[in-house]
Amino acid sequence: MSNITFTMIKPDAFANGHTGAILDKIIKAGFRIVALKLTSLSGEKAGEFYAIHKERPFYGELVEFMSSAPLVAAILEKDNAVEDFRKLIGATDPAKADAGTIRQLFAENVGRNAIHGSDSNENALIEGSFFFSNLEKY
Ligand code: RTP
Ligand code: MG
Repeated sequence: MSNITFTMIKPDAFANGHTGAILDKIIKAGFRIVALKLTSLSGEKAGEFYAIHKERPFYGELVEFMSSAPLVAAILEKDNAVEDFRKLIGATDPAKADAGTIRQLFAENVGRNAIHGSDSNENALIEGSFFFSNLEKY
């Protein structure tokens, strides 16, 4: 069981004005905000964050998109955080996401898919510390 996950409200969802609605869903689903900021990624930093996908055909597009505009980064706490958050956001492709999930409601397509959620406890800690210092975690 994990207590911590990491999320980004991606540049599409922030630019389209969905930040408030998405944070409301996250809080109502029982997650506590441990850290939160409006920020942006350089191309280099976005490439580093998604380095695991380096060999995938969509890597260049993904890095360009994630460094194109501001995003909202957050660390979230809840019992079973990683798994429960992946359920809340829905499938990577919004066309396949369950009704009521954040991606079904707010994502444009598989590339511009509104939100990120960590895929493991280990990555949640790594990703949270990529964006936040200990002084920024509450
Ligand atoms: P994320 O890491 O952002 O939470 O998304 P995920 O686990 O659901 O999906 P993942 O396989 O980790 O892919 C990372 C991000 O790459 C973009 N992507 N584009 N064009 C495509 O076929 C494609 N596939 C993936 C998405 O933005 C995805 O969230
Ligand atoms: Mg992923």
